[in-house]
Amino acid sequence: MKTYSYSFRNESSMKAALGRDMRDLPAQYPELFAPADRVCVVTGSDAPPSLRARTLALFPEKARPHAYYWLPPSESAKTLEEAGRLASFLFEEGFSRSSLVIAAGGGAVTDLAGFAASIYMRGIRWISVPTTFLAQIDAGLGGKTAVNLGGAKNIAGAFHQPALAVCDTAFLDSLPHAELRSGGGELVKYAMIGPAALRDTVGKHLSGTLAGDKAALTACVSACAAYKLKLVARDERDERGVREALNFGHTAGHAFEAMAGGRLPHGEAVARGIRFALIASRETGILGRADFARLDAMLAPLRLKPAPVRKDFRHFLSLVSRDKKARGASNRFVLIAGPGRLAPAEDLDVPLLKKAFEGALK
Ligand SMILES: NC(=O)c1ccc[n+]([C@@H]2O[C@H](COP(=O)([O-])OP(=O)(O)OC[C@H]3O[C@@H](n4cnc5c(N)ncnc54)[C@H](O)[C@@H]3O)[C@@H](O)[C@H]2O)c1
Repeated sequence: MKTYSYSFRNESSMKAALGRDMRDLPAQYPELFAPADRVCVVTGSDAPPSLRARTLALFPEKARPHAYYWLPPSESAKTLEEAGRLASFLFEEGFSRSSLVIAAGGGAVTDLAGFAASIYMRGIRWISVPTTFLAQIDAGLGGKTAVNLGGAKNIAGAFHQPALAVCDTAFLDSLPHAELRSGGGELVKYAMIGPAALRDTVGKHLSGTLAGDKAALTACVSACAAYKLKLVARDERDERGVREALNFGHTAGHAFEAMAGGRLPHGEAVARGIRFALIASRETGILGRADFARLDAMLAPLRLKPAPVRKDFRHFLSLVSRDKKARGASNRFVLIAGPGRLAPAEDLDVPLLKKAFEGALK
């Protein structure tokens, strides 16, 4: 097991544990569990029974959680109403400022439960237990919590670091291939934005990961999670430009995901958002044709099918212009000048955006 510990400028701190078949968290982290008067496990109602069993295996018999809360499936959980319902449940169950929420599930569960923990009694501690590949390399780490609003992604949210993030790759044994492929979108992102060593690790293990190979999954979770945690430690609130790299492919990707109304998994939307960013980078002239071809080829193993998104360019434009990362510009995207060389760009021309939009959804 690898462990990490970070302190942030606002005096909060977090720990992370990456490994397989973890057991007895209360014994390993007494400083988190001993002061907790109550513990609630939050998970998705569509998760397989093995996920609940494996979550319970993180606790010894004598220290089982006091309460369980099941969220609606996947993305449909990420609403303000659901965050309110969870907060009310915690109140009815007598949860106090010393209590602990444990979010065990994919990114939708960690986003929603982390957000509810951030507003309950002005913020209580939570533990993130990401159980999808995508959430173990990305969503379950970093303290960005959010719900969707007005047909757009992650519009209401908070930075609220989990006191502990536990990435146990044994959870991935039950993950369907479609979810591995979705995680592949974020994995390719790391290969494009990260240093050469990370690119090599992803390149070596991408096809094994998509096939569910345990060693490949573990290698990618270790490398990508460690890289994300490093960026988050340097720019916890996404204010210094360091963390912005993680948004590569996400502005267009979030728009595609919202436009598909739940029919396009997050990672697949991000993969198309990456293709959008590659085409836009080539068209602005910052990415040479050879590098474009090299980076675009990294998406090939994902075998992207035509996206179930209506090709409504006006809707796309309205979503990207209202993206919270636009910062007052008419649009803002993280573009790329070559492997590991990112270049944020604002106010891109509409004809260029249209070309990238059409190319991304082909
Ligand atoms: N906060 C962040 O920094 C951040 C980063 C990236 C993505 N996200 C968010 O994460 C979400 C996507 O997360 P996701 O890809 O994990 O999807 P998800 O949370 O919708 O989960 C996908 C499906 O996998 C199932 N599942 C979960 N664990 C399983 C397991 N071990 N075995 C079998 N099935 C399992 C779930 O029940 C669900 O049906 C999006 O809402 C996205 O916006 C957040």
